Amino acid sequence: MESIAHLDPHNLCGNFAKAKELLSKATNVVVFTGAGMSAESGISTFRDPDTGAFWGKVDPTIFATMDGFQENPDIVWEWYMGLFEKMTSVKPNRGHELVAELQKKFNVTIITQNIDNLHERARVGNEKIIHLHGPGGIRCTNCDLVMPTDHLCTIMDKDFDPKVCISCGHPTRPDVVWFGEDLPKEPWQEAVAAMYDCDVCIVIGTSGQVEPAASLPALARTIISINTRAEDHARLAFDAITLTGKASEILSTLTE
Ligand code: OAD
Repeated sequence: MESIAHLDPHNLCGNFAKAKELLSKATNVVVFTGAGMSAESGISTFRDPDTGAFWGKVDPTIFATMDGFQENPDIVWEWYMGLFEKMTSVKPNRGHELVAELQKKFNVTIITQNIDNLHERARVGNEKIIHLHGPGGIRCTNCDLVMPTDHLCTIMDKDFDPKVCISCGHPTRPDVVWFGEDLPKEPWQEAVAAMYDCDVCIVIGTSGQVEPAASLPALARTIISINTRAEDHARLAFDAITLTGKASEILSTLTE
């Protein structure tokens, strides 16, 4: 008999069945997200080939390191202010909404590498949201006063200099973790604990190339990986259940 495996090369049907079975027994669910989660909202990812990803357009050694920032403050500031404006102008997509709705059935913790706050904006319950790479916005390098992105964008047109702390007058910086910097301690510890405690970790839209975040899902008992690129599942864990496709479409089927 002729094989029909070629019609479902990623074994989506079988993997959906396995993923649904896992979720049917789960209580604690972690959703671990990367830039692909927000791609359908119109925000670029960092390293997708051929899609105008950020690190293909600008040099991360300038735009995502303290040395790059100190040597090129004006262009780095301009880029981040543009990015923050873009992030406040877009909306959470169906994928964010479906992630938020998971908390109706499970005890959900969202661990995100994203700084766009779209999980917060899609929130419908009291799920915990942990930011590994910072919340975005700006932070004073002296007194640690923070100004979140949404507030920053409301006062951007006024006579306001984001580079100087409104409280103590010292220099500020984008509230983002750059290469070579430690992740914030408390979010990291909470993320590790959530991974150990969860029954299932759903990983969505990350290439798994940036440590230490990339190693977190391996702490979970079981992983469901959602990604448009089949090759990016493999970096997470060898035994993940893989669902290849857009986050919103895969989540719709997974949660129906
Ligand atoms: P990447 O750009 O490295 O990876 C994005 C992933 O999302 C890729 O694996 C894509 O295949 C996948 N993807 C794209 N569109 C998708 C969609 N609609 N549905 C599902 N998957 C999709 O982004 P991250 O892994 O998040 O750090 O990058 C990690 C960190 O690298 C970022 O937090 C950032 C960057 O340097 C900092 O800026 C500190």
